[in-house]
Amino acid sequence: MKKLLATLAVAASFTLAAYSADAQTYPERTITVVVPFAAGGPTDTVTRLVAEAMSKDLGQQIVVENVGGAGGTLGAGRVASADPDGYTLLLHHIGMSTSATLYRKLAYDTLNAFEYVGLVTEVPMTIVARKDLEPADLKSLVEYAKANKDTVTVANAGIGAASHLCGMLFMSAIDTPLVTVPYKGTGPAMTDLLGGQVDIMCDQTTNTTKQILGGTIKAYAVTTPKRLDVLPDVPTTDEGGLPGMQVAIWHGLYAPKGTPTEITERLSKSLQVALKDPNVVARFAELGTTPSPEADATPAALKAKLESEITRWQPIIEAAGQYAD
Ligand code: MLT
Repeated sequence: MKKLLATLAVAASFTLAAYSADAQTYPERTITVVVPFAAGGPTDTVTRLVAEAMSKDLGQQIVVENVGGAGGTLGAGRVASADPDGYTLLLHHIGMSTSATLYRKLAYDTLNAFEYVGLVTEVPMTIVARKDLEPADLKSLVEYAKANKDTVTVANAGIGAASHLCGMLFMSAIDTPLVTVPYKGTGPAMTDLLGGQVDIMCDQTTNTTKQILGGTIKAYAVTTPKRLDVLPDVPTTDEGGLPGMQVAIWHGLYAPKGTPTEITERLSKSLQVALKDPNVVARFAELGTTPSPEADATPAALKAKLESEITRWQPIIEAAGQYAD
């Protein structure tokens, strides 16, 4: 047994040494970034913009793989078990911190299954509805939801998703549970909202701005202290009568645990370059968000953010007692 363990330890050190050796010439082949939600949604949109700019900087193709389901934990699990060689990455959001408490049987240990690359952006949320929903403003939406609490439907991207979290905050702000309809992402949920199959959704501006400006969905509020430049006519939740219902969706880039520091540092540098790319800056602005500053696009900043957010949401979730499993 001792001999076997010694052999395994040597083998593991050889493997890690091999990954470190490869770090010198990284990247040599296509990199995959896993998005833990369906294609066409807000996290997919952000990831494809950043991946395109990082691909230019690294001189290597980057492909996006959508692994939706279970509020983002399936995609995160896919990366947690991937080879720590820098060729499989994860772009995930606040859901990484909430799912650490919401899911008691996660396939990975959130704080020990990943290496960190950096923060990417922090996206405001909007409370929106199908365009023919009756209420004209947030106050009357709240009254309408309370009066029709057994029939009004609220779409989300599964327990632990940003849309689920914001939906929970809305329901607790109006002290009324509503019927929730889960999807693999708010991309497909938006299709049903446009089609009138669901009534309300709380979703990121990166998925709603175009529809709001196009008049194809109704917007009641943004969850930020101030109105957004790109949506000047949409009041804040404070203005609309739900003071304190504020939330923004931070996003981070991760790699599997054991990925060499040389590689995560190289990726962090590339992320910093990508977040200054004129196309990324312009597109983010059109979608109501901004790139994270250079100092936050670092492994240390993302690690600190994840740790503090797990600590922040744990008591709130435990108090609500609503677990995913
Ligand atoms: C998505 O990309 O579909 C969203 O980020 C889902 C969510 O968290 O609401």
